[in-house]
Amino acid sequence: MQRFIINGGRRLRGELALQGSKNSSLPIMAASLLCCGECTLHSCPNLTDVYAASRILNCVGCKCTFSDNTAVINSVVIDKTSISEELMREMRSSIIFMGAMLGRAGECTVSVPGGCELGPRPIDMHISALRKMGIEIRESGGSIICKAPAGRAKGAKINLAFPSVGATENVILCAVTAEGETVINNAAREPEICDLCGFLRSCGADIAGEGESRVIIHGKHQLHSCEYTIMPDRIAGATYLSMAAAAKGELILTNACIPEMEPFLSVLEQTGCSIYTSDKKIYLRSGSRLSAIKDRIRTMPHPGFPTDAQAVLMAALAAADGTSVFEENIFDCRYRHTDALVKMGADIQVLGKVAVVKGREKLHGAKVEATDLRGGAAMVIAALCAEGTSEITKICHIDRGYENIEEAVRLLGGDIRRS
Ligand code: EPU
Repeated sequence: MQRFIINGGRRLRGELALQGSKNSSLPIMAASLLCCGECTLHSCPNLTDVYAASRILNCVGCKCTFSDNTAVINSVVIDKTSISEELMREMRSSIIFMGAMLGRAGECTVSVPGGCELGPRPIDMHISALRKMGIEIRESGGSIICKAPAGRAKGAKINLAFPSVGATENVILCAVTAEGETVINNAAREPEICDLCGFLRSCGADIAGEGESRVIIHGKHQLHSCEYTIMPDRIAGATYLSMAAAAKGELILTNACIPEMEPFLSVLEQTGCSIYTSDKKIYLRSGSRLSAIKDRIRTMPHPGFPTDAQAVLMAALAAADGTSVFEENIFDCRYRHTDALVKMGADIQVLGKVAVVKGREKLHGAKVEATDLRGGAAMVIAALCAEGTSEITKICHIDRGYENIEEAVRLLGGDIRRS
């Protein structure tokens, strides 16, 4: 089991190019199943979740290769429509292969997906939306068996009870080759949904309205292959900016997606650090101690403050001047990192969906265990600005979402080692 050893207290300074988005790559890799050809995806991040998606594609018969951040996926032949429980359990995103397999083959057998422990993560909305599209779904011995009786799903009007990212993606993946029109009301508006639709449109799909609450899709008989570049990872961006802000640093982030990061940037700016944006660059300078954020930081679906940036901003605010209050509205158990931050000297009280963070003068190094992907990244941030040495174990969680995080930290002058 690998771990990070971090000696904190160094000022971070330098330039980083943002990796491609994990949460775009995974649905787009699944979408390549619909193309019956060879798709080339550039800027695909080198991450364990991306390898897990490649394994799923290979297991159903695709030929998927990956090198230098380019994935080449040949989906001409599909010879299997079931995905093993072992592969499904590797990550939560495996569930979007359900919509993609239905769109390609009209049937699939999957199981309940795995992923970070962020509280109950049901798939009821995915199932009821696909049923509305004429898919017969039954459970048997832990497997979810799905079939379009006519071999092809039927367009339908779907009203999502909550703008779920995964459910929106699953419906889109199933609808692009379904018969007729699908309308998704209360669709998720996350930038990664727009990236998925951008890819599908390059493959010939007819989609309108992505990025808004109503998405309209007209099914096509077949899509074709394409070459596509994945959008930058706004959450990795939020992580490195929080890191530089916490470590009184200076960062130039290149390959950044500025409009998509605005909900995060507008909050980070309130800590008193200077942020300038131009073209695809973000410049951040944080000379002195950060100020606490006055207004409650409420995580909300996009364009609200992203839940994925809650932990990393909390780590930065743990040593800010004053008290900040978070309200987590997306996941039930997304404060699992707080115990580790407290062990490092932070003063955080959690009551239900609210976390009150009283900024301390200093944090100190400690031995902690990464609880989930973003929580683990928060611990790296806290360790980098703490006094002394920290050891973070279970860093496999962090590797799911950050491409070579220790290399990035070292490039900025941080003292981190994997052992
Ligand atoms: N939900 C249901 N029923 C459903 C689907 C969702 O109750 O059928 C609930 C979930 O339990 C959760 C909320 O709705 O409480 C939001 O879930 P959503 O479906 O929107 O999230 P997701 O698709 O599982 C994606 C990202 C997450 C990100 C969320 C919210 C990927 C691979 N994952 O998850 O990313 O936090 O959207 O933006 O795209 C991460 O990258 O660390 C991560 C967890």
